[in-house]
Amino acid sequence: MNLIICVFWCYFWLSTLAYNSSIIKLVDKEVQHLTLSSHKSHHNNVKNKWFEQELDHFNATDTRTWKQRYHMNLKYYKMGGPVFLMVGGREEISQNWMISGAWIEYAQMFNAACFQLEHRYYGMSYPTENLNTTNLVYLTIEQVLADLGTFINTISIEKKKLLNDTKWVGFGSSYSGSLVTWLRLKYPHLIHAAVSSSSLLKAKVNFEEYFVTVQKILTNYNPMCEFHIRQANKMIGNLIKTDYGAKYIQKKFNTCAHHLNNSTKNVQQFFRDISRFIGLIVQDNEDNRYYNKMIDESTVTLVKLCDIMSNETFGCTIDRYAAVIKNLLSVCGTQCLSNTYEWRVRYFAESFWNNTAVKYGNRQWLYQTCTEFGFFQTSTQDHHLFGNTVSLEYFTDLCADVFGKSFNLNALSKAVNKTNMMYGGSRPRANRIIFVRGSIDPWNPLGLSFLPINSSTIFIKGTSHCADINPSYSSDPTQLLKARIEIVMYLKKYLSEKDFSIEPILL
Ligand SMILES: *[C@@H]1O[C@H](CO)[C@@H](O)[C@H](O)[C@H]1NC(C)=O
Ligand SMILES: *[C@@H]1O[C@H](CO)[C@@H](O)[C@H](O)[C@H]1NC(C)=O
Ligand SMILES: *[C@@H]1O[C@H](CO)[C@@H](O)[C@H](O)[C@H]1NC(C)=O
Ligand SMILES: *[C@@H]1O[C@H](CO)[C@@H](O)[C@H](O)[C@H]1NC(C)=O
Ligand SMILES: *[C@@H]1O[C@H](CO)[C@@H](O)[C@H](O)[C@H]1NC(C)=O
Ligand SMILES: *[C@@H]1O[C@H](CO)[C@@H](O)[C@H](O)[C@H]1NC(C)=O
Ligand SMILES: *[C@@H]1O[C@H](CO)[C@@H](O)[C@H](O)[C@H]1NC(C)=O
Ligand SMILES: *[C@@H]1O[C@H](CO)[C@@H](O)[C@H](O)[C@H]1NC(C)=O
Ligand SMILES: *[C@@H]1O[C@H](CO)[C@@H](O)[C@H](O)[C@H]1NC(C)=O
Ligand SMILES: *[C@@H]1O[C@H](CO)[C@@H](O)[C@H](O)[C@H]1NC(C)=O
Repeated sequence: MNLIICVFWCYFWLSTLAYNSSIIKLVDKEVQHLTLSSHKSHHNNVKNKWFEQELDHFNATDTRTWKQRYHMNLKYYKMGGPVFLMVGGREEISQNWMISGAWIEYAQMFNAACFQLEHRYYGMSYPTENLNTTNLVYLTIEQVLADLGTFINTISIEKKKLLNDTKWVGFGSSYSGSLVTWLRLKYPHLIHAAVSSSSLLKAKVNFEEYFVTVQKILTNYNPMCEFHIRQANKMIGNLIKTDYGAKYIQKKFNTCAHHLNNSTKNVQQFFRDISRFIGLIVQDNEDNRYYNKMIDESTVTLVKLCDIMSNETFGCTIDRYAAVIKNLLSVCGTQCLSNTYEWRVRYFAESFWNNTAVKYGNRQWLYQTCTEFGFFQTSTQDHHLFGNTVSLEYFTDLCADVFGKSFNLNALSKAVNKTNMMYGGSRPRANRIIFVRGSIDPWNPLGLSFLPINSSTIFIKGTSHCADINPSYSSDPTQLLKARIEIVMYLKKYLSEKDFSIEPILL
C-alpha cells in the first residue's frame, strides 16, 4: 500500500525535502496529528502482530531471523471467503488501511479475511541492526517476494482450520502494485489473483518521461498554466546566474539555506525540490485522500495551482509561482524550502533506525532506486517544463555520495536491465491480475504496455496516481465508481476460477 504517495501528501513531500531538524519535528507532529485523528474517528483497535522471517531466504546456512510486522482483520471473514493481502510498499503500514480503503469495501462483499504485511526495512520491520551498506544487501525484490511467499505459506498452514486452504488475493499500488504483480509471476501457486493499481512495472534509470507527462497533463488542462510555470522556471534559472538574482530567489522562495549562488549541485537540488512539488500536485490531484478532512484540499490541486498561476493579483509570474509554493508550505505547516546538496547527502547517509531519513523510508527507497529501479525524474531539455535543470548525474552522484563509489551509473544501468529481464518490464506475463490506472498520472509511462492473457486493465479517465484504492466518497467521479464496480466484477470471475494446474498426473 502506497500510503505516503497516495495518502499523506505532505508527509511524503516534506520528508524528502531538505529541512533542518526543528522543522522535521513540526512535520512529525503533523503526521501524528493526521494519523491519530483518523484512528479516533474509526475506533481502530487493529493490533501490531509479528511474523518471524528469515533475513536471507537464499542461504540455508544463514539462520538469522527478524520480526516482520503485520496486521490482521477477521471481522468480515466468513468460512469459504478468500484471504485479501495488502502488500506493504515503501513506507510503514497503517492500521487505518485495515478498516478503510476500497479493498476493505471489497472484503466486506467477498467475506474476506484481511492481512497487511509490512515491507522489510520499512516502518517497524527491522531485519538488521542498522542500515549500512553491508546490511542493505538484503533489501532486494527477490527477498521481499520471498517474505511474501513465506508469509502466505505459513499463515495458510498455521490457520488451516480457519482459512481452509482458501484462495489468496493480493492488493498493491504504485511500487507495491509492482510487487503484487511479481508475486503472481514468481509464486502463482500461493497467490490466486491480484489487484495492481498504478504499478511501476518497468525499471528505468533516466525517467525523463515523468516531467514530460506532467507537462502534457498541465497543457491539456490549461495551456496558459503550463506556459506560466515554464516561464517561471526559465526566469529562476536566469536570475540565479547572478549573485543578486540568487539572493532574490532565495528570499522569494524562503529557501532553508543561502545556497543558490555558487554551486551547480545546489541549484539542481533547488529545482529537484520544486519540480518534485509540482509533480506531486499533478500525480495526486483530486483523489479523495482528504477524506479525514485534515488537510485543506483546495490548496494542493491542479485547479488551485493553475488558478494561482494565472491570477494577476498575486503579482508577476515568479510571484505567483512563489505563492504556490508558499501555499503548500503553509498547508504542511512549515516555512522554508530546499537546502544544500551536501545537506541532502548527510540526510540520506545516516543509517540508524532512529534517523529521520530512515524513519520516513527515504534512505531505503533511495537505495532501492540506486540498485534496482532508477526511476530518476530528470529534466534536461531547454524547452521542457523545468528546462535543463536536473541532470541524471545529480541522481547518480547522490547514489555514489550516499552509498559509496561503486554505486555508479554503469552498475545501476546493468541492475535495471536485470530487473526488467527478471520480471518482464512493462510486459509481465502474469494472469488474473487487474491492472488499474488513472489518466492523470505521470507514472503511466512505466506502467503496463501489453495486456497479458487472462488479466484485465481498467483505465480511469481523469483520476490520478492510485485514486482507486481510497475509500469511496460521495464526490467520487462516476468513472471511479464504475472502475471499482469493474474491479469487483473481475475479482468475482477470478475467484470463481480453479487453479490452472489441478489435473493429477497418473503414472
Ligand atoms: C532550523 O530552522 C529554524 C527555522 O527556520 C531555525 O530557527 C533554526 O535555527 C534552525 N536550526 C538549525 C539547527 O539549523
Ligand atoms: C551464507 O551464510 C553463511 C552463514 O552466515 C555465511 O558464512 C556465508 O558467507 C553465506 N553465503 C553467502 C553466499 O552469502
Ligand atoms: C554495518 O554494521 C554491522 C553491524 O550490524 C557491522 O558489522 C558492519 O561492519 C558495518 N558495515 C559497515 C560498512 O560499516
Ligand atoms: C473447506 O474446503 C473444502 C474444499 O475447498 C470444501 O469442500 C469444504 O466445504 C470447506 N469447508 C468449509 C467448512 O467451508
Ligand atoms: C553566496 O552567498 C553567501 C550568503 O548570501 C555569501 O556569504 C557567499 O559569499 C556567496 N558566494 C559567492 C560565490 O558569491
Ligand atoms: C558556497 O558558499 C558557501 C558559503 O556561503 C560555502 O560554504 C560553500 O563551500 C561554497 N560552495 C562552493 C561550491 O563554492
Ligand atoms: C485572485 O486571487 C484573489 C486573492 O486570493 C481572489 O480574491 C480573486 O478572486 C482571484 N481571482 C481569480 C480570477 O481567480
Ligand atoms: C539512535 O540509535 C543509535 C544506535 O542504535 C544510538 O547510538 C543513538 O544514540 C540513537 N540516537 C537517538 C537520538 O536516539
Ligand atoms: C541495458 O539495456 C539497454 C537497452 O536494452 C542497453 O542499451 C544498455 O547497454 C544496457 N546496459 C548495460 C550496462 O548492460
Ligand atoms: C485463461 O483462463 C481460462 C479460464 O477462465 C482457461 O481455460 C485458459 O486456459 C486460460 N488461458 C491461459 C493462456 O492461461
